[in-house]
Amino acid sequence: MHLSVLFVCLGNICRSPLAEGIAKSYIKEKGFDFAIESAGTGNWHIGEPPCEGSQKVAKMHGIDISSHRARQVTKEDIKKFDIIVALDSKNKEDLKAMGAHNVLKLGDFGYSGADVPDPYFFDGFEGFHEVYEMCETCVRNLIDEYSK
Ligand code: 4NP
Repeated sequence: MHLSVLFVCLGNICRSPLAEGIAKSYIKEKGFDFAIESAGTGNWHIGEPPCEGSQKVAKMHGIDISSHRARQVTKEDIKKFDIIVALDSKNKEDLKAMGAHNVLKLGDFGYSGADVPDPYFFDGFEGFHEVYEMCETCVRNLIDEYSK
């Protein structure tokens, strides 16, 4: 089973690089043949590495996301990827406005459709644990679902 998956948040520096790193680690563990990338709807952070908190929480789980560089989602991405996974409702709306019909929401895979909280404005590191747990649970459930 081959499937291409693009995780999309706003800046592509906090949430979606984490979801990408978790997904890549999980497909490797399972031996699945998925192509995984991430991007942001915004352009403010193009070329930047993931935020410190996301890098730190990923590292605590043995996942290195330091080499990721932020990029903005394009119309070509929407055509190219089998599924686009939005990290919150606003990301999903923005992707639909770009013409995407293949958009899912990560929180629908284990968190009753909740938005993954945006850690960009978090005060300190604590909140990143919740973001990690949510991404991990939902990413695993999504990949399990699509590898059937
Ligand atoms: P992300 O977090 O969407 O999880 O990468 C954000 C990054 C940057 C901004 C907002 C959220 N920003 O407003 O610049």
